[in-house]
Amino acid sequence: MSTCSRIAAQMVSPGKGILAADESIGTMSARLENAGVTPTEQSRRDYRELLVTAPGLSEGVSGIIFCDETLNQVFSDGRPFAQGVRELGMLPGIKVDAGAKPCPGLPGETITEGLDGLAERLTRYAKIGAAFAKWRAVYTITDAGPSWGAITSNANTLARYAAACQEAGLVPIVEPEVLTAGTHSIEQCADVTASVHAAVRQQLSLLNVDLSGIVLKPNMVTEGAGHREQATPQQVAGATLGVLRAWPNELAGVAFLSGGQSPERATANLEALQQYPTPWPLTFSFGRALVSPALAAWRGEEHLVAQGQAALTKHVAANAAAVRLRTELQSA
Ligand code: G3H
Repeated sequence: MSTCSRIAAQMVSPGKGILAADESIGTMSARLENAGVTPTEQSRRDYRELLVTAPGLSEGVSGIIFCDETLNQVFSDGRPFAQGVRELGMLPGIKVDAGAKPCPGLPGETITEGLDGLAERLTRYAKIGAAFAKWRAVYTITDAGPSWGAITSNANTLARYAAACQEAGLVPIVEPEVLTAGTHSIEQCADVTASVHAAVRQQLSLLNVDLSGIVLKPNMVTEGAGHREQATPQQVAGATLGVLRAWPNELAGVAFLSGGQSPERATANLEALQQYPTPWPLTFSFGRALVSPALAAWRGEEHLVAQGQAALTKHVAANAAAVRLRTELQSA
């Protein structure tokens, strides 16, 4: 078993998911400001330390994704984040893309940038203790899109990123996200997500990426945020599995993003997904569905740190319980 396969298996081990705490400086600052916290390097650090040191977090979390700023910061006791996270029994990871930028030639569509100097950055991240990386490509459903150009260009960059990670000994989290923005139906989301995944699979294969050493981080297949009717967890699970079935057995695992779903809906959908037998584990790699309640409870107040941590662990425990259902169903 290669190093990447071993780490990937650890990331999706039974009953555990991955915490996404990798908002860029801009996004994190806006979220802090919304919660009434002055956004500074220090407040972003304080918030991430609150999350990571939540008592018992490692019972439901195998790894945590950070952005570059956090991975270069230290806990209040002076330990670098990567070291502190490992000592708490979790794996540190790093978001390495530079964000979705307007795609030349495709008005209104985006390409995720960040390939320049990637190999050197990966080597540095591995040296400071990162075990895995993340790259997110985004696709918007419109009357005319996403175009085949956007689908294939982003699939190619995802594959180049994934190959570079495996060469550096880091597990790539491969995140093709079909956004919920729009009024589209769940069927349209299924069609687009299937085309996106087919392109990603093809490009990963062309660049000899070992699927047993990656974690796929897809959107769940849902209706658009502006669609008139919300699909049930059973419908979401059925549509999502319909798309995922095309992935080969050797894929290490699937860890879903939450994509702006409420924490409750994301958990209910994750639970419904566990009813389906699959060759790979299906777990969570939620951002907002885990961290938003923690931020709302903390509000930057020293005396509310424990409440913020409790809000996080409550949602982690609910998702870990959903994921554990699979093991229970399989052994029944
Ligand atoms: O890239 C996005 C995050 O890793 C997941 O965030 O669960 O809020 O969609 P989300």
